[in-house]
Amino acid sequence: MTRMKDKVVVVTGAAHGLGRATALRLAAEGAKLVLGDIEGEALARTTADVVALDCVAQTVVGDLTEESVAGQLIDAAISAFGQIDGLVNNLGGSRNARIWEMSVEDWDYTLRLNLRGTFLCTRFAAPHMMARRQGRIVCLSSGSREGTPWTALSTGGAAYSVSKAGVHGFIRDVAIELADYNITVNAVAPGPIDTDRVGPGLRKLEETMTLGPMTVTPLGRLGLPEEVANAILFLLSDEASYISGHTLAVSGGR
Ligand SMILES: NC(=O)c1ccc[n+]([C@@H]2O[C@H](COP(=O)([O-])OP(=O)(O)OC[C@H]3O[C@@H](n4cnc5c(N)ncnc54)[C@H](O)[C@@H]3O)[C@@H](O)[C@H]2O)c1
Repeated sequence: MTRMKDKVVVVTGAAHGLGRATALRLAAEGAKLVLGDIEGEALARTTADVVALDCVAQTVVGDLTEESVAGQLIDAAISAFGQIDGLVNNLGGSRNARIWEMSVEDWDYTLRLNLRGTFLCTRFAAPHMMARRQGRIVCLSSGSREGTPWTALSTGGAAYSVSKAGVHGFIRDVAIELADYNITVNAVAPGPIDTDRVGPGLRKLEETMTLGPMTVTPLGRLGLPEEVANAILFLLSDEASYISGHTLAVSGGR
């Protein structure tokens, strides 16, 4: 288990769900981690669990859609380890509402959450990677980049879909900008994943809808957080050296 031995990886939104699963997977592969999240107590639990795997980890607690906090996260990586090999822009989420009921505040909140932290952390990490002419950036898009039938039918996910389509566009442009520096930029687009916070809502939709998330997924089940973490690990690893500007679906088929 040494695919990430001594590689320094920054993971945003590492307290829960896919960020936490990614941190644990990377720790098991020998990475040194810099973890950021807005929830301090839950982040401390993730950190204790990665340290138990013999991983060296630094943490920054705060709102990573704020420029100063995103800057602190990248600075923490450089101060502690002197380099950044990988950045996982994982933090994200949604305030859903049908379009005729959605407030401007919720629309802005969702776009900010999914796009601003990704922009800021990439903006601050890129010069450090460019100086060493190496680096891997992986961003969390979603199957929702093409619309999400169950969400649209029940609670309205237009803002979320827009923001995750935005992540797909972001990685395609930034991959070209950073190609000269040997830095790859990709996205992972999960389907319905059984995380601690999203899983229960997906199950409820499955019970109440004819075309619920499991029914419309060819593999017929929710994905596991570890299955998404495995895809992120691959895109961060040496094995993915000739892949850039790609959004990899981890969605149980299409
Ligand atoms: N779970 C799914 O089914 C699914 C599917 C597709 C895409 N995704 C995407 O994967 C990513 C992770 O999803 P998840 O299900 O693990 O979500 P989650 O809500 O369980 O975890 C998100 C993490 O981000 C943190 N966070 C939220 N706002 C923050 C902020 N402003 N600053 C710092 N940290 C903040 C939260 O505290 C949490 O630890 C998100 O980008 C999400 O949109 C998830």
